[in-house]
This record gives sequence, structure tokens and C-alpha cells, in this order.
Amino acid sequence: MRLRDCHNISDLRRLAHRRLPAPLFHYLDGGADDEWTLRRNTSAFEDYELLPTQLRNVAEVDASTRLLGLNLDWPVFLAPTGMSRLFHHEAEPAVARAAAKFGTLYSLSTVATTRLEDVAALTSGPKMFQLYIFKDRGLTTEFIQRCKAAGYAALCLTVDTVVQGNRERDKRSGMVLPPKWTAASWWSFLTHPHWSINALLGPKFDLANISHRVAAARATTSLIEFINSQFDRSLTWKDAGWLVRQWEGPVVIKGVQSPADAQHAVDIGARGIMISNHGGRQLEGSPAPVDCVRPIRDRIGNALDVIVDGGVRRGNHVIKALALGASACSIGRSYLYGLAAGGQPGVERALELLRDEVLVTMALLGVRSVAEITPQHVQHRPGRQ
Ligand code: FNR
Repeated sequence: MRLRDCHNISDLRRLAHRRLPAPLFHYLDGGADDEWTLRRNTSAFEDYELLPTQLRNVAEVDASTRLLGLNLDWPVFLAPTGMSRLFHHEAEPAVARAAAKFGTLYSLSTVATTRLEDVAALTSGPKMFQLYIFKDRGLTTEFIQRCKAAGYAALCLTVDTVVQGNRERDKRSGMVLPPKWTAASWWSFLTHPHWSINALLGPKFDLANISHRVAAARATTSLIEFINSQFDRSLTWKDAGWLVRQWEGPVVIKGVQSPADAQHAVDIGARGIMISNHGGRQLEGSPAPVDCVRPIRDRIGNALDVIVDGGVRRGNHVIKALALGASACSIGRSYLYGLAAGGQPGVERALELLRDEVLVTMALLGVRSVAEITPQHVQHRPGRQ
């Protein structure tokens, strides 16, 4: 199977499965506990139906939109995902270049394997930096200053990770960071020589934006344990408000699911929220983001940009989310499967497929622009309300 034989995200996932040693694939693909939330994130889209409006002259369809004060070519952007180097030696630069080529926002994770300044210098496309507020608060202040200097357009504060979710696939597959041969995984590394050789010959695995600060990050055998020890369970909305004031630009709170928390985000002056359960990797049992849009919009109106993040694998998922009241969607695994399947061309293939599906869905729905997508275009599937 080659990239050009991949006709949807599910095909790219299959190719990623072939290309990656098992511990890496399951780290990418898996979720918490029984993975009910992970599955629900995508299956919830099936509880909604799209109602077309016919004969509307859709000779020209334009998916461009404004989000966080930025112009995007289409209402989908790339969510922050850590340690891209695990999935392909081209790592974050491949993803950032593909995002810029497809006219959309790239989010860089705190736990990226490329320096934030190096990513900023790669393209002129808009970029957002994702923060965790670690126990080491000096690191947060340093990130704010570095992001300002490097020209990041927005900050994203992830609030759903005070502890790491229970990822059982990682325990079974022998996943450790940095990746190492273990009794459970050596065969898998041996049978994926392309990945293994690139991992050995390429640049050393490094949490490039934090390791200078914490020498232990390099020395410790389990980076997961190190990162876990840095999450601060004492964080409150006051800390989030402090971040908004320090940044003085758009801040997005990532990991909101309830109307009350959306209201908190409005109150502290955030510019947007990402309705997200971290792709089903954190709180098992939490609802699918798409199901949270209406209750949140009912509570906060248009006070914020509302991003649906989780389970988006199809263009029609994006349009359903927009019709329910979302401003945009973000994707994680959809582009990571592409990265694992084929580096930058793989990410581009993922974005091309999704963008084309968005445009076809808009035409078939009878809308020429994102502004024309309204609640009248979506209804609950009978019996699923
Ligand atoms: C993530 N996600 C994530 N989120 C975040 O705020 N910081 C991070 O470093 C990461 N890292 C990360 C790694 C991997 C491998 C995955 C799959 C996800 C969560 C991510 O931003 C996003 O919320 C989900 O990926 C959205 O769900 P889908 O699109 O993957 O279903």
C-alpha cells in the first residue's frame, strides 16, 4: 500500500500500522482504560444527520474562515501532539510545513521534539504554542517570552492533564520513552527496520523545548515518569487567568467540556476553547466533544471561538460540528497517521483528503461559505436525542 492508494484517514491509519513498530503505533492510536471515550469521539458524529438545502448555486464553494483573529483557508487545524519524532524522523517540521501549505494553523506541543524557534522559522504560516503549566513556573514564563519573540500567533493551555490517563496499550506493548528494545517490543523493532534505522541514525530523541531546563529529562530512563512528576494538580482558573494577562494575545483553553467551564474561560478573557477530552487519552467516560457544542453555545453564545477536537476523521464530521455551532475543528491522529505513513507527503495526503471532503460536503449541503452553515443543516438521528 502506498500513499496514493490511501483514499481516507482510515487507509492512512492502516498504512501507519504497517510502518510503525507496535509500541509506537499503539501509543499513537490508543486511549485510556477501555477506550470507550476514544471510540465515542468518532461514533458520536453518527448521531447527527446533515439536511441539505438544494438548488442554491454552489458553483463556487469557499471554505475559508477566521479563527482567533487569523485567516484560515478551511475550518480545520492541527492540534498539538507531543513527540512527533516518535512517528517519523521528519518530525514536527514535516507537519508544520504541510499545515502552512494547506493554509491552516499548526499547534506545537510543549513536549515537542523540535525547538519552538526552529518551527517558527520554517514557514510563514500561523502557529500556536501549547502549554502545560508545569510545577516549574519559571518554564512557563520562559515559554511566554520565547513564543512572543518567535512570533507565535496564539497560546493554548491544556487543562485536562493534571495526571496522565491510564493507557493500557502502552503497558502491554512495552512502550517506554525514549523508545527502547524491551522483552515485549524487540521483535517489533526488528521487523520494522526502516523506522528503527532512521531512529538510530537521525537526531537524538529530545524534548527540545524543556530538556535544557531540566537536565534530568535527558538522564531519566522514563520520560513519561518525568513529565508526570511535573504536572501540577494545584492549578486553578486563577492560573489560567494569569496566563491570559501575561500573553496579551489570543489564549485557547484546551480540554473544556462543560458549559460552566466554558463560562470560566469567558470570564478570564480567553479567546477560544477547544472542547476536547485529549482524544480519549485522559478521562475515560467523558463525552464526545461534538455532543458538548450545543450546551456550551447555549451558555456562552458567541463570546468565544469554539473548537471541536476529537474523533474527526471525515469532512462531514467537520461540517456537522460547524452546523451545531463550532467555529472550527482540530485534528490529532488524522494527521499523525499520515506522518507515520509517509512523513510530510503523508501529512499532506491527510490534509488533502479531509479538505476535499469538506468542500464536497459543503457543495452537497448547498452552502457556499462557512457562514452559510447553520443549525438548520443538522438534526439528531431519529431515536438518538
Ligand atoms: C495528543 N494530544 C496532545 N494534546 C496536548 O495538548 N498536548 C500534547 O502534547 C498532546 N500530545 C498528543 C499525542 C498524541 C500521540 C495524540 C494522539 C494526542 C491530544 C491532541 O491535541 C488532540 O486533543 C487529540 O488528538 C484529538 O483527538 P483525535 O483527533 O486524535 O481523535
